[in-house]
Amino acid sequence: MAALEPHRIDLGDVVLRPFVASDEPAVALALQDPGILRWTAGTAVISSPADKRARRWLEPRIDGWARGNAVFAIADAETDQVIGNVALRDVHRVPDQAVAAYWVSPVARGRRLGARALDAAARWGFTSGLRLHRISLDHSLVNEGSCHVALRAGFQLEGVMRDYYVEVTGQRHDSHLHARLATDTAPDLGPQPAGS
Ligand SMILES: CC(C)(COP(=O)(O)OP(=O)(O)OC[C@H]1O[C@@H](n2cnc3c(N)ncnc32)[C@H](O)[C@@H]1OP(=O)(O)O)[C@@H](O)C(=O)NCCC(=O)NCCS
Repeated sequence: MAALEPHRIDLGDVVLRPFVASDEPAVALALQDPGILRWTAGTAVISSPADKRARRWLEPRIDGWARGNAVFAIADAETDQVIGNVALRDVHRVPDQAVAAYWVSPVARGRRLGARALDAAARWGFTSGLRLHRISLDHSLVNEGSCHVALRAGFQLEGVMRDYYVEVTGQRHDSHLHARLATDTAPDLGPQPAGS
């Protein structure tokens, strides 16, 4: 996959920026959340010893831009503390497409940060040099919070993928497929960053 130029998006109270090695303690804290671990961490991280998980998660995300994945930390604008993650993965693996993923740390939930960050990352993916046309995402049917985030960020529900998500335990989950197109009407989630 072609390398991407690391990017920063200012959303006022938070910024989307590339991860750096010093984010490890904040990532370690986030990975203590059962939801983040269950739905986003992946087998390699879950199978690692608890004290090694953050580094195992972080290192490929820092390098992700070089491998065609736009991996943003959601960081508090004042403290620069990481409070979430939004990523556009596999950019142009299928031409003009990417796949989104996100989490928000428990301390920062309840502010619709997931939807705002996902919307901002999508707008950037559609309009920047990436020139994407379609961004998709999926979530287990039991993960209702993720469904709210997707819909609020303008990712329409396209259908159910049976037994799509497989947990490290082997448990399979039917999953919703959502997607947003560059030509869809963008949601109104408040002030947008300059140039978006
Ligand atoms: C999903 C997640 C990112 C949402 O965090 P957030 O952006 O802070 O979400 P908020 O608390 O502001 O809630 C956003 C919406 O989801 C709804 N919601 C949140 N948690 C919910 C739950 N457990 N069940 C049902 N709805 C829920 C809220 O009511 C709100 O709905 P609205 O926007 O339609 O009013 C966060 O819970 C998370 O990181 N979860 C674990 C990781 C994960 O599941 N990532 C997605 C993988 S597909």
